Amino acid sequence: MKICLVGCGKMGSALLEGWSILKSIKEIIVIEPNYENITKTLINNKKFNFYNSLSEIKNKGIFDVTILAVKPQIMKEVVIQLAELRIQSNSWLSIAAGLKVNFFEEYLGRNQSIIRTIPNTPSSILKGVTAVHYNSNCNKNVIENSILLMDAVGETIQVKNEELMDSYTAVSGSGPAYIYFMIEAMIEAAISIGISKKDARVLAEKTLIGSAYLLEHTNEEVHKLRKDVTSPKGTTEAGLKVLMENNNFFNLVDRAIKEAQKRGKDLGKI
Ligand SMILES: NC(=O)c1ccc[n+]([C@@H]2O[C@H](COP(=O)([O-])OP(=O)(O)OC[C@H]3O[C@@H](n4cnc5c(N)ncnc54)[C@H](OP(=O)(O)O)[C@@H]3O)[C@@H](O)[C@H]2O)c1
Repeated sequence: MKICLVGCGKMGSALLEGWSILKSIKEIIVIEPNYENITKTLINNKKFNFYNSLSEIKNKGIFDVTILAVKPQIMKEVVIQLAELRIQSNSWLSIAAGLKVNFFEEYLGRNQSIIRTIPNTPSSILKGVTAVHYNSNCNKNVIENSILLMDAVGETIQVKNEELMDSYTAVSGSGPAYIYFMIEAMIEAAISIGISKKDARVLAEKTLIGSAYLLEHTNEEVHKLRKDVTSPKGTTEAGLKVLMENNNFFNLVDRAIKEAQKRGKDLGKI
């Protein structure tokens, strides 16, 4: 498979990290103006060939998949340049939040195969989850290639209704940040009750990882797992009582996810 990655910032790098250990991927051409964003390990990986600008790759032939991984705000500039340089690709896979299939069709051509995806940063260690939506031009081969790429870095969920892509973005694309924020809060609280910074990090981290593994390896409902930890009149019950007060925690998470979804919709208007 001949792959081009445009934009190698946080998410582009996370995907490259994941693909670096994939035997089926032999070579990826990467366009990134700012090499400071890329780790030395990725730069030194012989599979990846780095270029500063799109104009340097215009004679590289037809790509199977071109991954568009720049910020939504500069995507227009990038797709216009791709069209002007007549860079050809059998499919265009965007990872940008908010931007609709229609946006890419407008600049790259109505007959082009467009794949709109939302991965997340755990892709770098092959534990990602990616929501994928295809336009009607995507044939079996295009779909198979994209699934190969995204399945390689975690799990893929197909989204038929494009309207829902902003909802998926708000949950799993942004989700790692919500989890880390919860962990930051746990660490701070742990320190405030006398635990060292080092131990606080270990306790919070291992609790997250252990709970996540347990969740992944059981068919139990999530609330059942919570109840298993919560003995009547025990310490957990006392702590949870605070989190559950007036449904505050649920309301806060609900508001956060809806605000992220709204931001996705707004980004789609540019
Ligand atoms: N971060 C996440 O967790 C996440 C999750 C899901 C989806 N996404 C999506 O992924 C995309 C990238 O996000 P990010 O967080 O990785 O942003 P980022 O760290 O800013 O990465 C974007 C990269 O593209 C580079 N770039 C700018 N102009 C370019 C051009 N003309 N050609 C090639 N590369 C160019 C930027 O370089 P400069 O620094 O020099 O501008 C930067 O290194 C966004 O559309 C976002 O919505 C991100």
